[in-house]
Amino acid sequence: MSIMSRLKSATAELHRQAEGTSLQQRLVKGALPRDLYAAFLGQMYLAHSALEGAIREVSATHRGFATVVRDYHQREPQLSEDLDFLGVDLDAITAVGATDTLLADIHQVAREQPVALLGMLYVLEGSTNGSKFIARAIRREYGLGLGPGASYLDPHGERQQERWQAFKRDMDDVGFTETETSAIVDAARRMFRALTDVSDELSEPAGDRPSRPGPAAAASPATA
Ligand code: HEM
Repeated sequence: MSIMSRLKSATAELHRQAEGTSLQQRLVKGALPRDLYAAFLGQMYLAHSALEGAIREVSATHRGFATVVRDYHQREPQLSEDLDFLGVDLDAITAVGATDTLLADIHQVAREQPVALLGMLYVLEGSTNGSKFIARAIRREYGLGLGPGASYLDPHGERQQERWQAFKRDMDDVGFTETETSAIVDAARRMFRALTDVSDELSEPAGDRPSRPGPAAAASPATA
């Protein structure tokens, strides 16, 4: 099985959980209050900054990075622009507990199994397949044009399909070993759980969050 097939099947249930969170559902319907939307983008800014910075630092350690990673995979520029447009001071953004856990995981992966950062990139890059549609709802809801405000959710515009196909082809072309593949899949699963936890933490009061099966619970921040 190719690594992209492995990634898709090993994360299918986690994708359902992530897209089923209250925050993602309200995003899809364009029913998320603007301040919560800005709070979500702020957490994504921290996650992307950490992941993109880590990938830049380790990119010489494995040829997979040169084969797969392109400048247009960076989301930090769009997030900065969107947050600025929404009136959020980037320096004032603080990580919620689930984001803190994710940032620590990114740093640990960068130190111990750098190539597994590509599994984390898979999740964030793959999410553009759905977020392109969310961008339409957000633009409608907040009266935005194609410029800043929702550019993070639709970073590739007309080139979405072409770039996603290229990502998949390049990942499959690297020829990862079985050990590398397992580490990449494990990191992708943790990234999915982290995004579910971030979505829940932003929208559910502490202590009133749905309990989810599996190790995600152990990685969640403690609730009061
Ligand atoms: C935290 C939220 C989400 C994350 C992290 C995420 C992540 C991903 C990933 C990694 C893929 C690529 C799957 C693959 O082909 O290997 C994907 C595909 C997709 N996602 Fe999501 N997603 C999220 C939320 C959503 C939501 C809310 C929707 C609904 C609008 C959605 C709709 C889709 C669609 C339509 C595809 C394309 C499926 C295909 O062509 O095979 N996603 N997403």
